[in-house]
Amino acid sequence: MDLSRYITTKDSSDFVAEERLTVVFASSEVAPFSKTGGLGDVAASLPMALAQRGHNVVIFTPLYGHLDPHKLRLSKRLHSLEVPRKSKAQSKVEATLWEGRLGQGVRIFFVDAEEYFGREGLYGQDGAAFEDNAERFAFFSRAAVEFARSYPLNVDVLHCNDWHTGLAPVYARHYYEEEFANTSVLMTIHNLAFQGTFEGDQFDATGLPKKFADEGELLDDSGKLNYLKGGLLHADRITTVSPGYAKEIQTEEKGMGLHALLQARSEELTGILNGADYNVWSPDVDRHISVQYDVETLNGKRQNKAELQHKNGLPVRPTLPLIGVISRLTEQKGIDVMVPTIRSLLSGLEDERDGFQLFVLGEGESWLHEDLEALAKEFPKRVVFKAGYDEAMAHRVQAGSDILLVPSRFEPCGLTQIYSMRYGTVPVVHSTGGLADTVSDLRDDPDHGTGFVFKELTEDAMAGAIERASAAYRNYRKWRPLMVRAMELDFSWGESAHQYESLYVSLAELQKAAE
Ligand code: ADP
Ligand code: GLC
Repeated sequence: MDLSRYITTKDSSDFVAEERLTVVFASSEVAPFSKTGGLGDVAASLPMALAQRGHNVVIFTPLYGHLDPHKLRLSKRLHSLEVPRKSKAQSKVEATLWEGRLGQGVRIFFVDAEEYFGREGLYGQDGAAFEDNAERFAFFSRAAVEFARSYPLNVDVLHCNDWHTGLAPVYARHYYEEEFANTSVLMTIHNLAFQGTFEGDQFDATGLPKKFADEGELLDDSGKLNYLKGGLLHADRITTVSPGYAKEIQTEEKGMGLHALLQARSEELTGILNGADYNVWSPDVDRHISVQYDVETLNGKRQNKAELQHKNGLPVRPTLPLIGVISRLTEQKGIDVMVPTIRSLLSGLEDERDGFQLFVLGEGESWLHEDLEALAKEFPKRVVFKAGYDEAMAHRVQAGSDILLVPSRFEPCGLTQIYSMRYGTVPVVHSTGGLADTVSDLRDDPDHGTGFVFKELTEDAMAGAIERASAAYRNYRKWRPLMVRAMELDFSWGESAHQYESLYVSLAELQKAAE
């Protein structure tokens, strides 16, 4: 894919916020340059939404091996970034910085450090994490802090995301307390299941004084190094990506061992729902789909469905609901419960016109690949499994499916169901985290419901919701208004970006008051 077209040269000064804040947004993924899941989407779309509100938002991210700065037409910064690697005074890495622009007005800086990022893969390869991840992301966190220091304007907010930047708040507050007196450090949790845990003997990779190990700040109860924990302790504020998940992570059941810490910081923890970039994820402008459509031209959706069926060996049956799944294949996503559920639903069918078809696009753990392959083999006219990561295909599945199934065990926010509603692809979701915050059940509210929600992650509950959705699909007079309602919902960033902005402003005010 030619990524260079995403880099723009124009600046946009259309909007002027009351107070123009300078924000460094540090993320290990930024779509479309690097993405393994929703973090990549958010790290591009949130900064763009904030920039539209008039803020000076600068993204900081690694230059991975698959990114060619020349092809991307990035400009090389004259001065390299000096990143200390042991303590403030000791050895350092000189990293090149490459600059581009994302959308209108967001500067994006790629940190080019061959030894850490000049290879294929973001976090690992062939299912195995890189052995030097502790070192790589300690470097990245430190680099983000050094970058913020070297930025010519005062950085009002250093916005860190997930464990890859977990050490940044620690470095900022430990080494540069005074210099960062006017910089707030915010940590956003996109997924508490990933904490950046390493064996305790890798502590040296952090370069931090031993007291951080002794005091147990960076170590968890089992003696493992935990980068996210450090970030959560040292950040001025914490956010996560839906109000529901903000509550869940303070419980022992869903707090992944950090619930006590999160409870203790409850006052400083906010859930802000992710938004969608409708310039990318909307069927009226989607460049990846064959026929663009909107609420007035829903016939276009039928054509996308027929094409998806035809090209993937499924019988082209307009009357049979097509269920799509677009997912990382991990424990989180509930695919292990979905497979037997689908099997039992499809096994009993005698008439080809009954039931549904299923299209799964996913990549992840091999046991789930095997389960899905077996399912597709058993029901060749019903189930397609496309193994792999394919951005264009994800758009085609959104446009071509009637229903999107998201059976996640837990889901901090979830973007696929948010996108699906824009495509008139009605979501069937497990009632958890951001899924529960974004989809309302038709049964509970026939006039406003936007999908089908099952309360427990069990085969029975999931089967019940799939059956209800499939039955509803067969009644077009009822289905059409449901699609339209979903399509007309607004999950664009406006409101959520405003919430981040208010948070940034309140933090900046706190800093001023402390002066
Ligand atoms: P998570 O971040 O937990 O993976 P989200 O729903 O927030 O879940 O975001 C998933 C993002 O990754 C969406 O943009 C979705 O389209 C994309 N995605 C997931 N799996 C694939 C895949 N196999 N191929 C292409 N895109 C995928
Ligand atoms: C994580 C979560 C997902 C969320 C995404 C973006 O990967 O699993 O629920 O939507 O981050 O915040």
